[in-house]
Order: sequence, then C-alpha cells, then structure tokens
Amino acid sequence: MDLQLTGKVAVITGSGRGIGYASALALAREGARIVITDIDPDSVRQAVAGLKEAGFEAIGAVLDVCDDGQVRAMADEAARAYGGIDILVNNAGFTRDKYLLKMPEADWDAVVDTILKGAYHCTRAALPSMMERKWGRVINIASRAHWGNPGQTNYSAAKAGLIGFTRALALEQGKFNITANAIAPGLIETPLVRGLSTYDMLRANALARQPVQRLGAVEDIADAVAFLASERASFITGELLHVTGGRYAS
Ligand SMILES: NC(=O)c1ccc[n+]([C@@H]2O[C@H](COP(=O)([O-])OP(=O)(O)OC[C@H]3O[C@@H](n4cnc5c(N)ncnc54)[C@H](O)[C@@H]3O)[C@@H](O)[C@H]2O)c1
Repeated sequence: MDLQLTGKVAVITGSGRGIGYASALALAREGARIVITDIDPDSVRQAVAGLKEAGFEAIGAVLDVCDDGQVRAMADEAARAYGGIDILVNNAGFTRDKYLLKMPEADWDAVVDTILKGAYHCTRAALPSMMERKWGRVINIASRAHWGNPGQTNYSAAKAGLIGFTRALALEQGKFNITANAIAPGLIETPLVRGLSTYDMLRANALARQPVQRLGAVEDIADAVAFLASERASFITGELLHVTGGRYAS
C-alpha cells in the first residue's frame, strides 16, 4: 500500500528514542522529511545521525514542549529547511507515579504540562502551515491509561485530556482537510518502561490481561502512526485507536 507520504514534513516530539524515534523512522521510510525534537540533546544528535545514515532527510531541534518559545523556533526552522509542517506527532510524555495523596504538585504539573500543554503549544505552532496547504495530520500518542490506572491520576488525567483535545481539534480543523487522531498504546517495550522499578510486575500484568501474548514493540505504534498520517486515512478523524494486543480497561 502506497501511503503517499513522499516529501511530507513530519515533526515528532520526544523522538530522540522510543516510540517517537520508531515513528520518525516509519514516516521516513514512507518518504517523509523528518524533524526530530526532544528535550535531550544527545538523543536528538543520535536520532538525526541514525536517520541520515539510513539515507533519509532529517533535521533536529532540542526543545522542551512546555516552552512555547522553543516550540515556535522549531516551527520556524522547519519552515526555513522544508517549507512548513504537514504532520505533527505529539508523543513527548512520561509517568511520575504515586497515589494521589502522596503526589507532590510538581509531579502533577510535570506530567500534565508535558502531555497536555506540550500538545497545545506544538499543535498551535504547526497548524498555520497545515491550514495554508489545506492538508495536515495531527496524531496524539495517548495511552490505555486514559481509562484510569491506580497511581497514575496525573498521567491518566493528562492522557484522557489529550483524547478530548484530539476530538475537539478534529471538529475544528476538518474543513481544512486536517485530521486529528489519537493512539492508545498498551505496554510497549521502550527505555521508559524498561527503566521502571515495577517493570516485571507490569509485564506479568499485561500478559495476563492481553489476548495477544507478547508485549508491544515500538514498531506496532509506529506503523499505526504512519497509517494515520497517510493519505489512506484521510476520512478518519477524531478517532482513538487502541494498539494494546486486545487489552482494554482492566
Ligand atoms: N511505552 C509504553 O508502554 C507506553 C504506553 C502508552 C503510552 N506511551 C506514551 O508514548 C509516548 C512515548 O513513550 P516512550 O515509551 O517511547 O518513552 P521514552 O521515555 O522512551 O521516550 C520519550 C521521549 O520524550 C522525551 N521528552 C520527555 N519530556 C519532554 C519534553 N518536555 N519535551 C520534549 N521531549 C521530551 C524524552 O527525552 C524521551 O526521549 C509517551 O507519551 C508515553 O506516555 C508509552
């Protein structure tokens, strides 16, 4: 299936590693030009080098999605280098788990701001060039946790909020031929997940509840991103796609 992404410009947040990098690679393989963005400078350098070595077009920007000035500077750089932005993947995010009564305000703010305000900043920076071209894709990486996970009131609230953001954006932007969709990954083996002290418990829990008896790989999410970014998905908007091996609310 030709996804018709040749020459499109894709910005992926938090794409120095993990699901973000895999999504950048999948979009590059379909012919997109890539803007790697991440808060971690080393990972930006490595990701851009990796894509270039594989023969793809890529530039990088070190930024914190919570910083509107840095996000706007990246959008300006994408316009200078590639003429604008066609595809935005709001992927930057992380967990800071604690039961609510033990959760410091800083952990609430860090998670909610990165996931929600980050999507607000990045989408506002990318939309004008999509509206001008009358073509655009916004793909938000949510989580199965939008249903609510104990110890994750901050993360669950932010991911549920991101889904509401996606639906509202789809209604606002459809007339410009811009679609907005969200993906809810299940447990995916990434540096974030492998680094958690609860990794063994999470893994056993996921396998006990999933009909498909393996953990997710970053490519499982990246393939869904590439499809939703493509011309083939032009009539799909405001949707939430679960990529969980069949695991839902429990
Ligand atoms: N791995 C999973 O099982 C899983 C499941 C559901 C949802 N998700 C979501 O997928 C996304 C990617 O997760 P991952 O597992 O690949 O994580 P990861 O930690 O491997 O990658 C996340 C990247 O985001 C970057 N980042 C963090 N804060 C940032 C900020 N403020 N500005 C810019 N970049 C920032 C990090 O430096 C890192 O490179 C996250 O939104 C996460 O919530 C992951």
